[in-house]
Amino acid sequence: MPVILEARDLVKDYPLGEGSVTALRGVSLSVARGEFVAIMGASGSGKSTMLQLLGGLDRPTSGSVIIDGIEVSALDDEQATLTRRQKTGFVFQFFNLIPLLSVAENVGLPFLIAGDALAEHRERVDELLTLVGLSDKAQHKPDQLSAGEQQRVALARALATAPAILLADEPTGNLDYTTGSEILDLLWDSCDRLGQTIVLVTHDARAAAYADRVLVVRDGQLRDDIVLGRRSDHDPAALIRRLASLGL
Ligand SMILES: Nc1ncnc2c1ncn2[C@@H]1O[C@H](COP(=O)(O)OP(=O)(O)O)[C@@H](O)[C@H]1O
Ligand SMILES: [Mg+2]
Repeated sequence: MPVILEARDLVKDYPLGEGSVTALRGVSLSVARGEFVAIMGASGSGKSTMLQLLGGLDRPTSGSVIIDGIEVSALDDEQATLTRRQKTGFVFQFFNLIPLLSVAENVGLPFLIAGDALAEHRERVDELLTLVGLSDKAQHKPDQLSAGEQQRVALARALATAPAILLADEPTGNLDYTTGSEILDLLWDSCDRLGQTIVLVTHDARAAAYADRVLVVRDGQLRDDIVLGRRSDHDPAALIRRLASLGL
């Protein structure tokens, strides 16, 4: 499969007081179109930093990121923002929905941001709401939904423009076990059935066991690249035990 996302030798320093903290120390990776990759590691290992660089939300101190053939790390801010909006969708631990907008408006937000009228995209929004099982709650406000439902809205929004890559940072981190499973099942379904490329950051072996491949990050470096294969073809329980035995 062709490569859709590539990182070359990413280094990221954050300024701190007089000095700086090095969060990434030379990370290189590639993700194939349609692949589901998990990035797994302990708290503070550099996962969120990696995801932000991979999705063009922040810039590396050195190194490059290539999304769908475009070197985002070389673009100016305006172009990088445009590319990010066109090529990526993000899901975060805290759903980041807009409280004053309805569920349908939140899902259609990427179209509003692009300057379109929501009416032009009604069919797409309906399709997304069906995908995440929230057709009957289109006119609700986020605070009228459960946490799991709010995350489903965030996922529908992230998928709205059919992005080349979906990036998710601990999307189940604020959900109970069953609700978390529903989100992971939806992610998996969008990958397996719709061919969505996914990069999922997690510290949870159960979540990582949904992926085709698990990249293990420790202290700002990739330490392992574990090929699992399609979830439908393997026993997730055995994989969870194996990941757990690595101390993850
Ligand atoms: N904005 C920031 N400013 C300073 N240090 C940061 C910033 N963001 C992250 N760090 C530091 O970089 C390291 C990696 O953080 P992060 O990428 O958030 O890890 P993870 O997502 O795996 O918990 C940590 O030591 C963290 O304290
Ligand atoms: Mg994090």
